[in-house]
Amino acid sequence: MVFVRYSEYNHLMRIAVISDLHGNSVALDHVLKEIEGSNVDQVVCLGDVATLGPQPLKTTHRLQEAGCPCLLGNHDEFMIDPARVREYSKVPVVVKSVEWCHSLMTPKEIAFFKSFKTEHDMITGSKRLRFFHGSPTSNSEDVIASMSPAKLEQLIGKTEGDVLVFGHTHLQMLVQHHGRHIFNPGSLGSPFKDLFFCEAPTIFSHAEYAIIDVKGQQVDILLRRTQPDMQKLKKSVRDSEYPLKEFLLQQYESAAG
Ligand SMILES: [Fe+2]
Repeated sequence: MVFVRYSEYNHLMRIAVISDLHGNSVALDHVLKEIEGSNVDQVVCLGDVATLGPQPLKTTHRLQEAGCPCLLGNHDEFMIDPARVREYSKVPVVVKSVEWCHSLMTPKEIAFFKSFKTEHDMITGSKRLRFFHGSPTSNSEDVIASMSPAKLEQLIGKTEGDVLVFGHTHLQMLVQHHGRHIFNPGSLGSPFKDLFFCEAPTIFSHAEYAIIDVKGQQVDILLRRTQPDMQKLKKSVRDSEYPLKEFLLQQYESAAG
């Protein structure tokens, strides 16, 4: 069997979208390996790279090696200015975890986060694809499937583009709004079962990401779920200095399947 790289076949462009890695280097390695075997032309990362997981530095360095465009998530901003987490969250577990993560960062990693952009814009075939962390105007704002069309219009109505891609909520989503595709690849490192309010979310044990294929007028969007090695993941938590590792291990024990 002959495998043809998609970009060489009739101008089809294949893009992988990853988001909300949250310090999960086991899931990142697993997903990048899968992407490498999927004839992908470009990877885009929507941000929230290091915090709330056991391997902040390893995850950051692995992403840096991947050399893809990265968007500035609210948690990436906390690495640049850690005081901002207290404006964002009153949940002690979140604040403690972010502060520990920041304490590990050197000027080299901070410089990497400072290079992240607020949006990424791609024109491929006849389609314009735009990528954000939260909403078009804020990296802390949710765009979710259960929003009313009026609310969605208020958030994205003025944002041009055929495909709008958002992260931040840790929930996979694909909706059509006035003929446009609006989607969220979910979270690579900490996928939620339900929308997060204040209670600790139930997480899935799988990793989430998305593949976009563009060929002329045709756009295919695939929301993927893939299972990293849970034993390896739990070991990475146990071996870490993460201050909330017992809490995280408990989350993995009760992870939705
Ligand atoms: Fe996030």
